[in-house]
Amino acid sequence: MGCGCNTKAEIPINKGVMRKERTFLMIKPEGVERGLVGEIIGRFERQGFKIVALKLSKISRELAEKQYEEHQGKDFFDDLVSYMSSAPTVSIVIEGENAISVAREMAGVTDPKFAKPRTIRGDYGIDVQRNIIHASDSEESAKREISIHFE
Ligand code: RTP
Ligand code: MG
Repeated sequence: MGCGCNTKAEIPINKGVMRKERTFLMIKPEGVERGLVGEIIGRFERQGFKIVALKLSKISRELAEKQYEEHQGKDFFDDLVSYMSSAPTVSIVIEGENAISVAREMAGVTDPKFAKPRTIRGDYGIDVQRNIIHASDSEESAKREISIHFE
């Protein structure tokens, strides 16, 4: 009847379109160093996402630069790529409903100081650089990042 409601009144119909997506995640060096890999992967599994690729590696500076190419020229760029290539990280591809936006929500905002409790950064982040996890910010970034980390 065009009322914008579902037949079950308690379920808002306008929750957004559900789409099966893949997104790219990276557990940053301090997450690996602090033994948080299982805890972080477990959160995504419990949320219902399927792990479709997983790799522990120490990425090259060149790969870190590619990963974060949108930030080239910013004052934190050099520190960021040095840090990301300084020690092992875990690269992950997950798949599931609205994976891109849900993973960003699960990660929390960039600066852990402002990240909500029960988000990964809110619970474990130390500072803006050591914020535990990367998650792709759009469909285009997800495709690009998956292709550079997994052939
Ligand atoms: P990410 O790409 O790692 O998932 O993080 P994000 O989208 O939440 O934030 P973004 O703006 O893309 O920044 C990428 C990473 O750069 C570091 N950063 N440092 N002001 C600073 O010193 C600063 N701003 C950003 C963070 O590690 C951030 O995750
Ligand atoms: Mg980003």
